[in-house]
Amino acid sequence: MSPIRGYVFDAYGTLFDVHSVIEAGRAITADPATLSATWRQKQLEYTWLRALMGAYVDFWEVTEAALQHTLRRLGLTPSAAQVRRLMDAYLSLACFPEVPAALERLAGSPRAVLSNGSPTMLAAAVASSGLAKYLDHVISVDPVRTYKPSPLVYALGPGTLGIPAGELLFVSSNGWDVAGAKAFGYQVAWCNRTDAPEEELGVRPDVVVRTLDQLPR
Ligand code: 2OP
Repeated sequence: MSPIRGYVFDAYGTLFDVHSVIEAGRAITADPATLSATWRQKQLEYTWLRALMGAYVDFWEVTEAALQHTLRRLGLTPSAAQVRRLMDAYLSLACFPEVPAALERLAGSPRAVLSNGSPTMLAAAVASSGLAKYLDHVISVDPVRTYKPSPLVYALGPGTLGIPAGELLFVSSNGWDVAGAKAFGYQVAWCNRTDAPEEELGVRPDVVVRTLDQLPR
């Protein structure tokens, strides 16, 4: 690998555990894991579809629409207050246990978040998880009004850090996100937290880790 002068992290699934919404799901279904997984998949599908349609709305709106579809699909009829609690869980997601120390370990190099999340969502999650002190930049896709894996999104990393993509390490647990960043020109680390099979998207991660404390310095 070439020298790494900075780190760019995906947020949901990489720093933050999106399945922490399972707790809020327990109140409305006996199978909150299925609710969380179905909701997450639909949320991502909507980002890809809206990007291809050129019909951008922010990640909060996409996340809410994906939840409504998922509730219908699963035949769940929660109260408005229960829906609000599920959505608000996105504003206070837990970070994975190794993340604070892993970010601290990389101190000295610029560290950024680059995420589909809206600015408000990301500010809330970074604040509630206590990660603000480890992050030099929190970058939302919102200014370019499209979603990953659009090159317009990945260009925000070098643009904000002032470091060429080839000298940045992009880190994501989402294999498709890693592929998008690699295709753009980053060095990439796939944090394969779930032992998932590699994607077949024509590019390969430069390094695969299971947790962020294994990242190369
Ligand atoms: C993120 O951009 C891909 O949702 C993931 O944070």
